[in-house]
Amino acid sequence: MLTENTDFDRVFFCNSGAEAIEGALKLCRKYAALKDPEKTQIIAMENSFHGRTYGSLTVTAQPKYQKNFGPMVPDVLYSPYNDFEALASKVTDKTAAILMEVIQGEGGITPADVDFLKKTRALCDEKDIVLVFDEIQSGVGRTGDLYAYMTVGVVPDVITSAKGLAGGVPIGAVLAKEKVAEAFTPGDHGSTFGGNPLACSAGLVVLDELLNNGVLANAKEMGEFLGETLENLKAKHPNTIKEARGLGLMRGIELTCEPKEIINKCIERGLLLVSAGTNVIRFVPPLIVNDNQIAIMADILDDVLTEFETGSCEKESIHQ
Ligand SMILES: Cc1ncc(COP(=O)(O)O)c(C=O)c1O
Repeated sequence: MLTENTDFDRVFFCNSGAEAIEGALKLCRKYAALKDPEKTQIIAMENSFHGRTYGSLTVTAQPKYQKNFGPMVPDVLYSPYNDFEALASKVTDKTAAILMEVIQGEGGITPADVDFLKKTRALCDEKDIVLVFDEIQSGVGRTGDLYAYMTVGVVPDVITSAKGLAGGVPIGAVLAKEKVAEAFTPGDHGSTFGGNPLACSAGLVVLDELLNNGVLANAKEMGEFLGETLENLKAKHPNTIKEARGLGLMRGIELTCEPKEIINKCIERGLLLVSAGTNVIRFVPPLIVNDNQIAIMADILDDVLTEFETGSCEKESIHQ
């Protein structure tokens, strides 16, 4: 079902997002090694998040996650997100793969510029570099399409998927184009529970709900409504909300201050929110969310922001 509904030819199943990243990294290195054993470098983006195992932690270019866990896996370079010139300057004959999120999630809900993605795609084609999109947070309907690469219109060679793919049952997946996938031969990679019938059955139900029972269409419609709602809140609270951004049901508002107090006040009123990156409140509601629920959320947040604006937030931002 995954290959039928995406641009990829083969899938490797595992049990989590971090495992999917490990599988993708190994696949990229083997694909490159078959051409040139020296082609081992992987370029990841600054401020990324890809997981907490050693390979995935190495490509997670945020010091706070790596601190006290070094040394990391060798031959991984970091480049600033959305800066094509910087990325191009790091590419050499040794570059095996470029890895990025289509929207940086943990890093603060930062969407990739489509131009940056297109130029990177062209560079990867020119130099036979594997382009990997980590769709662990952005995939499975989150942006209103099955995967966010579809929303932005740039097709990579490999994507990783996990999180909601089996509706809460542990699963991860690496989806690859045949050209890259064929680098793996039996025994190269594996996992006892990868592709187990329970998780895959749950995954089939999720995909059926998304594609055939209206969940994807709902996510698209509600994603637009959430975007408008957050823009309206920004217009109402211009001193506290610096920017509203994101795609579909993966959105964030960047505040002019620390979000902790606002989040806590919302939680007290029954609205569960979570932060991301620096000063960002993240909105990743269930894909079955309805407009009434989004409106209730906006009312609570509006009240909390109004109350808060007379307090510490504004004062803090003046000092920044
Ligand atoms: C973009 C991205 N990649 C990888 C991961 C790691 O997934 P897992 O927690 O299933 O290992 C996450 C988890 O938040 C993520 O958001």
